Amino acid sequence: MGGLFISFEGIDGAGKSTHITALAQAFEAQGRVVVRTREPGGTPLAETLRKLVLNEAMDALTESLLVFAARRDHIALVIAPALARDQVVLCDRFSDATFAYQGSGRGFDWDTLGMLEQWVQGSGPTHDLGLASAGLLQPQLTLWFDLPAPVAAQRLAGARVPDKFESQPEAFFEQVASGYARRMAQQPHRFAQINANQDPDAVWHEVLRVVKAKGFLA
Ligand code: TMP
Repeated sequence: MGGLFISFEGIDGAGKSTHITALAQAFEAQGRVVVRTREPGGTPLAETLRKLVLNEAMDALTESLLVFAARRDHIALVIAPALARDQVVLCDRFSDATFAYQGSGRGFDWDTLGMLEQWVQGSGPTHDLGLASAGLLQPQLTLWFDLPAPVAAQRLAGARVPDKFESQPEAFFEQVASGYARRMAQQPHRFAQINANQDPDAVWHEVLRVVKAKGFLA
């Protein structure tokens, strides 16, 4: 069977959460053990770092170092052990978010982010965690919930007190979306672009179709 690692991406307000829950239930219904987690976060230390990243002003390099530090802890304590036990890891955001938000959103250098990604997800560090993966640890599938920035802004308006990223202007999210498009162009084999600008039922059917087409669900 083997472990399965799926990540969920998109700009704030794209509506990932309900579909992560539904997908977890679909895997459980087929007898799989599911670990549902998120980034930044997923461990006590990473959740502490999340509060800093989402609430404190800092430059983009500091932000990148903190999200990758959180990711290291999360991979070591949650993701690698779950994959080694052949479980299904459903992760609300992973390193594509760093390229999209810190890289394209905040304009930080993608090559530097690529080096940090090697440090944290490279075969050396993951081998030390008992993962016999060749190359970089990446999700087998990344579902990118693609939604026009103005629609996302409308959905977010008044929903809750916005954090540092949610209160960014629409132009920021246009840049973040272009970052996701760039990542998808670089690694098309693991990306699926989901049209999130439809009613939730239609989005769910698209999600299910992609996961089944990959052979991950019967
Ligand atoms: P969430 O609200 O979807 O849980 O995501 C938390 C916020 O953190 C979201 O605005 C995106 C941002 N973020 C980054 O800026 N860089 C990252 O690497 C990750 C994982 C999230």
